[in-house]
Amino acid sequence: MHLSAIDSAIRSRKSARAFSQQEVPRSRMVALLDEAARMAALGAKVAWSVHVLHGDSRQALCAKVCAAHDALRQAPELSSLYREPYDYYPEKWTSPYLERRRENGWSLYGLLGIGKADRDKMHAQHQRNYQFFDAPVGLIFTLPRALGRGELLALGAFLQSLMLCARQAGMHTCPQAAWNGFSSIVMPHIGAADSDMLVCAMALGFENGSDTVNTFQTPRVPVLGFTRWLS
Ligand SMILES: Cc1cc2nc3c(=O)[nH]c(=O)nc-3n(C[C@H](O)[C@H](O)[C@H](O)COP(=O)(O)O)c2cc1C
Repeated sequence: MHLSAIDSAIRSRKSARAFSQQEVPRSRMVALLDEAARMAALGAKVAWSVHVLHGDSRQALCAKVCAAHDALRQAPELSSLYREPYDYYPEKWTSPYLERRRENGWSLYGLLGIGKADRDKMHAQHQRNYQFFDAPVGLIFTLPRALGRGELLALGAFLQSLMLCARQAGMHTCPQAAWNGFSSIVMPHIGAADSDMLVCAMALGFENGSDTVNTFQTPRVPVLGFTRWLS
């Protein structure tokens, strides 16, 4: 079967959670971002900012947040320092979202041989988020707080566009909300204005094809599970 470039990018996109050390040159990042920004956005305002971290700035942020994540585990009362900038998750999970989320999480841990009682291993796997899964490029996405929630739609379209462009260029990505809780560390590190908020992050680079974690495949709800036909 012949797959067009877009099909191929869509079907081969996945969240990679282990990357090789292969660098992504700045000129390549500029080309990717330029292409990805062709997505639709009401009013073409381009309200978001992308902060590209590599080299020392990436290393330093990873070290700070890994240390904070470890400290938080030892002293949960520190959680008052780490507030999410917006409510990504509901206060109370309801069915069927709770079951789907659990299934996704436990399937990943199962693949990695992490059992429900393996708290240390879970923490270590979660910590991989704060190393951008070893990807050479870490991206942080911010939006001005003052703008409407609709801007999250435009940024979401941009993220998907970027992930597909990365695939077409032979790279992989992992969007990451895990950084949001550490906004109080991330935002000063990147020099973002107080009036901006951290929306999410993304690891980008070339996948480590020999790491089992990258064989993880997630199911999808069938079309009839999320579509209503009205006639
Ligand atoms: C906005 C957003 C935030 C995400 N945050 C994380 C994260 O912090 N850590 C992680 O490992 N995966 C994260 N993911 C990846 C999802 O878990 C993944 O997209 C989902 O399980 C579907 O799998 P797939 O991307 O491999 O198709 C995030 C995805 C999105 C869209």
